[in-house]
Amino acid sequence: MTTHPRILQVGYGAFGATHLDAWAGLVPATALTVADPRPDARAAAAARVPGIAVVADWRDGLAAVDAVDVLTPTDTHHAIAAAAIAAGRHLFLEKPMTVDAAEARDLEARAARTGVTVQGGLYFRFHPKARALHALVRAGGVGRLRFLQGKFAGFKRARGDSGALLNDAVHFIDLFGWLAGERPATVHCVTRDHFGRGSEDLALATLVYPSGVVAHVETGYIQPGRWPDTVVPGAVTSKEVQVSGSEGAVEIDFAAETMVRHRVRHEFADGLWRPVFAGSAPVAAEAADPVAVVRAELAHFLDCIARRRPPDAGLAECGVGLALVLDAARRSAATGTVARVEA
Ligand SMILES: NC(=O)c1ccc[n+]([C@@H]2O[C@H](COP(=O)([O-])OP(=O)(O)OC[C@H]3O[C@@H](n4cnc5c(N)ncnc54)[C@H](O)[C@@H]3O)[C@@H](O)[C@H]2O)c1
Repeated sequence: MTTHPRILQVGYGAFGATHLDAWAGLVPATALTVADPRPDARAAAAARVPGIAVVADWRDGLAAVDAVDVLTPTDTHHAIAAAAIAAGRHLFLEKPMTVDAAEARDLEARAARTGVTVQGGLYFRFHPKARALHALVRAGGVGRLRFLQGKFAGFKRARGDSGALLNDAVHFIDLFGWLAGERPATVHCVTRDHFGRGSEDLALATLVYPSGVVAHVETGYIQPGRWPDTVVPGAVTSKEVQVSGSEGAVEIDFAAETMVRHRVRHEFADGLWRPVFAGSAPVAAEAADPVAVVRAELAHFLDCIARRRPPDAGLAECGVGLALVLDAARRSAATGTVARVEA
């Protein structure tokens, strides 16, 4: 690798400027190339960070770079990722890394052969409040973990490349598995395609983990959200989680930037189980700037390449593992039964 790794960002759509700004904070503009078939996207990228190179076809940028950052529609990820890996390029692949587990397994096998670093774009793993929650939960701050619930929903455009499961539920299913330290054993999922477009606009998933921890994730585009979305222009969404354990609970409203810890346990007295409160207080954690969060993800990626160590949010956990849960969710929704997550 040269002093500064040379980066090819493939795709400059809604999330494109956030990634490009993040890269511009890590490497010089002359180390950056953006590929997008849309001329307006290439012009916008070139105007945003003067000095970068732009190409219409990502294949034309592959030879001259060290790493590839893919943020194109999900159904294009596998082909671009497979070619990048075959060319020996390190790979950052936005969520959902692939359409299904079969594609993820294929990429895993290819990456093992060439030895490149592959990291997924799982935003919440680098979000200051989610990281504070992870540290608190793993340190036993809510006692024994019991229930995780999340709402990632609101009035926003239904993307053409995927439904609410792959596009939205993926975030909190990953976050909850990371918090629980395990992959769910079963999923019961209900979805609806009210728009008749072939993908769900409402998805409700209940996940049960081997330890007995339960999680529920609500996603969709037909229920009201509460805040202007920081990533999708014009959307009004809610991104909230509540995590409950034997000794308390934590709730985060990611859009409102609030995080509150409740110290509470149920005790048996006078024939009843009653909550015994020991106070609620805000937890201090930085506000999240999307560019700073993505910059943290990408800085980790570069660090893992330099040190030849496996990244957090790697292909095994966030590619194959997450896709196995999402595949089970789709099987459950299709059959109306509880689906077992494949090992
Ligand atoms: N982590 C997050 O919080 C987050 C947020 C938004 C999007 N994403 C993910 O990022 C990816 C892109 O999302 P988006 O909202 O920017 O999508 P988008 O549809 O707005 O933009 C996709 C861009 O890719 C371009 N494109 C399509 N095929 C291409 C190809 N073969 N080569 C080069 N460019 C190509 C399109 O012209 C378009 O400009 C998706 O995987 C999405 O799930 C992640």
